[in-house]
Amino acid sequence: MRNITGSPVENEDFFDRPQELARLQRELSNAANLRINAPRRVGKTSLVLRLCEVCMTQSWAAVYLNVEDSADELSFAEKLLDGLHHAGLHPDSISRCAVLFRIARQALGGLKVGAGIDLEMGEVDDPDHSTLGRALESVFRKIEADKRRVLIVIDEMPELLLAMTHQEQGQQRVRRFLHWLRALRQTYRHHIRWVFLGSIGLEGFVEERNLGKTINDLTPFILDALSPQEADAFLEKLGADNNLNLPPKIRTEIIRRVGWPLPHHLQVVFHALVDSGAIVADSTSLEKAFTWLLRPENLSQFDTWRQRLEEQFSPPDAALAKTMLSLLARHTEGRTRDQLLHAIMAAQPQSEASRIDDQLGRLAIILQRDGYLMESGGSLAFRSFLLREYWLRRRP
Ligand SMILES: Nc1ncnc2c1ncn2[C@@H]1O[C@H](COP(=O)(O)OP(=O)(O)O)[C@@H](O)[C@H]1O
Ligand SMILES: [Mg+2]
Repeated sequence: MRNITGSPVENEDFFDRPQELARLQRELSNAANLRINAPRRVGKTSLVLRLCEVCMTQSWAAVYLNVEDSADELSFAEKLLDGLHHAGLHPDSISRCAVLFRIARQALGGLKVGAGIDLEMGEVDDPDHSTLGRALESVFRKIEADKRRVLIVIDEMPELLLAMTHQEQGQQRVRRFLHWLRALRQTYRHHIRWVFLGSIGLEGFVEERNLGKTINDLTPFILDALSPQEADAFLEKLGADNNLNLPPKIRTEIIRRVGWPLPHHLQVVFHALVDSGAIVADSTSLEKAFTWLLRPENLSQFDTWRQRLEEQFSPPDAALAKTMLSLLARHTEGRTRDQLLHAIMAAQPQSEASRIDDQLGRLAIILQRDGYLMESGGSLAFRSFLLREYWLRRRP
């Protein structure tokens, strides 16, 4: 297991999560389609990549797509088709569809796909291929008829939806697209399983737009941090495989200080230990590593957590979320909602308390769901020691 601190990990670099994999497989064998609810950096992509591998050894076809860079329905369709093709599924109907998409793309030129999933495919006699949606359905019909089990994983789906909302007729297209996808899942449900994941919560996105029912057939799958025992084994292996053994006491200390043992955070601390020149892992070198980790250059890796707030929220929500996080960063033990409200009202007495309180409640839920905060004993607090330190040092 190498010390990787950013990209998804595969093969030998993947620290096995047998319980999570077994849970995923159980869901799939119960015919569930899933949405994985977990904040960024919990290890979602790595886990589903491993799931794809496991399924392939059991003669499934598995398709993994990251649609983060897809701009619209047509590019989603192109990517999906490409993925199915690479998984060795129905080359004939897929190639036919791919040709249609290419022609459609050329006909559009630089134009955006205003018609979305209902985009007309041009001069086709076959009603099966009259629109983008129908052309894709024809491929799914053939795959389903083939009776081979297929797993389709769509990563960063909410990113695509969010990008679409900013485009021409965006809201309407997102609605149509989500309804269409749901119908696709329901119609071809015997052999095709879907897993959706993303670092912005899909459910948050649809709830805000009153589109909850377009994903209510997806079973939520909660992926948490490692248990203390797993975190301990993780650190032991990371040390042993990278020539810096971590004694039990040091492993316990790392887990305690990290607070929420995400694989990513453990990797980051280990990286800091090596990077700060540790020859042996003891309390002194660990102290040095944490100081090292919290240097401004290193903290910039948490910038995305701040940027996401602006991307995800309306300006007033983003502003209040930042205020909440800045207040909470100063209190390791956390703050109750009343304490937060009090502090906010003291800073902006012109605001209406009941409105701020509503907004606080709503944001508290989303910030917990997205992994910023956790609630314990009635108080809200940062989930991650590292993120809290980041927030303290880099106030927006
Ligand atoms: N099973 C694992 N074994 C080792 N490292 C992991 C594992 N899962 C996650 N990581 C660490 O977390 C980082 C992010 O993983 P990734 O799967 O991309 O998370 P997500 O998709 O949830 O953002 C990886 O670069 C690695 O440092
Ligand atoms: Mg990911």
